[in-house]
Amino acid sequence: MEQRERLEWLQINSLDLEARGVGRSENGKVIFVANALPGERVQAKISRSKRNWESGTAVAWANLASSRVTPKCPHFGVCGGCSMQHVDPAAQLAFKQRILEDDFWHLSRLKPQTLLRPIAGPSWGYRTRARLTVRLVVKKGGVLVGFHEKGSSYVADMRSCAILPQRVSDLVLPLRDLIASLSRPERAPQIELAMGDSVTALVLRHLEPLTDADRQLLRDFGVAHQVQWWLQPKGPDTVTLLGGDAEPLRYALPEFGITMPFRPTDFTQVNPQINRVMVARALRLLKAQATDRVIDWFCGLGNFTLPIATQARKVLGVEGSATLVARALDNALQNGLQDKVAFSARNLFEMNAADLRAYGEADLWLVDPPRDGALALCKALVQALGGKLAPSAEHLEAESLPLETNAPWVPFTPPRRIVYVSCNPATLARDAGLLVHHGGYTLRAAGVMNMFPHTAHVESMAVFERD
Ligand SMILES: C[S@@+](CC[C@H](N)C(=O)[O-])C[C@H]1O[C@@H](n2cnc3c(N)ncnc32)[C@H](O)[C@@H]1O
Repeated sequence: MEQRERLEWLQINSLDLEARGVGRSENGKVIFVANALPGERVQAKISRSKRNWESGTAVAWANLASSRVTPKCPHFGVCGGCSMQHVDPAAQLAFKQRILEDDFWHLSRLKPQTLLRPIAGPSWGYRTRARLTVRLVVKKGGVLVGFHEKGSSYVADMRSCAILPQRVSDLVLPLRDLIASLSRPERAPQIELAMGDSVTALVLRHLEPLTDADRQLLRDFGVAHQVQWWLQPKGPDTVTLLGGDAEPLRYALPEFGITMPFRPTDFTQVNPQINRVMVARALRLLKAQATDRVIDWFCGLGNFTLPIATQARKVLGVEGSATLVARALDNALQNGLQDKVAFSARNLFEMNAADLRAYGEADLWLVDPPRDGALALCKALVQALGGKLAPSAEHLEAESLPLETNAPWVPFTPPRRIVYVSCNPATLARDAGLLVHHGGYTLRAAGVMNMFPHTAHVESMAVFERD
């Protein structure tokens, strides 16, 4: 049903995760306003009205917030890649910290004992991984290469990108021409970017076999612009390098004397500068001793596992992707740390207390899950401790463990400290509630890192300890 638009003046009090200003109408209804910032009084054009909330766009301002800046990128507002370029980077970080604190409080009634100093890095040119959509759009005069437009499946007509490194941003227009010159440009839907410290790789997804002429065009482009081409005709397992040998992708963690080789489709953190600082901070907080056994849950290719192995007695890395586990093992060998580590592939979204016991007790845990968090793992820990998650099926499951075998309850020594790295403050706050309210842990410290400047994504870290 079509809704009538109306204009309303509002005071904006906060920002939501999509970087929309949040205010209230005179009757108390929440209104989300695009392009409005906390502290501003704006006239909003309300275009959507639901029972509990409304949304619209700011069209006039009585005052501007001091945090408001001019967006650097000409595509801001249309391109869906960034939502916060109109906010000063320091204010973005403060806003993200507030989201973390609010989630801890609203979802689990928790306050960290200490707030860690936010970690900031370069605001521009930081993003060394990206998935660019490619589309032949005759109406726009050719091929587009870029991110999706905000809230749409159209591809933004972008000519540069300020969050990509300059040399990659400079490739956006040449890539449009290159794809347009291929035999079937409409059958090449995606280019994935993966950069190491000295190599730039592009993975071309193509739905039809490439001709010899196509391959030559790609090779010539690669030489001219110093990029490696990888081809992906089907799923991720089919990715191969175009041409013969080439220098492998790798990134260094110099503080630990470690180099991590990887393939372009492997998971790596998108912002290498922040990653270095993040790994160093995680290790400082973990405080591993030479006698400690550590488990690194969701270890990926060993980004935390190998640095921890330089300090601890032994580290076990557990991860869902068998490919990444194989890479982690290989990386341990290449860094001479194979005697200090072990790896295991398993689905960590399906864990119970018995599974946890099978991995053995550890002095310390590092947990770095995807956005969904580590609920099963945290529940398994609570259950192994004999904790009750009542009133729920998990409670019965936990209690039935010793009863099933008639075996006496075996005590489980929990890790004395857990460092939890998260890309979703809501799932971190939920899991923190379990660890603190059911697992006997204290939330010692937490803080945010600006891994993804100008986007609404929040990377954070929390430390839990048992006394
Ligand atoms: C945020 S990444 C962290 C990886 C690594 N710690 C790093 O810093 O590069 C999350 C990892 O969880 C893994 N993962 C996703 N779902 C999983 C699951 N259900 N069970 C185990 N691992 C999973 C992904 O493959 C990915 O490596």
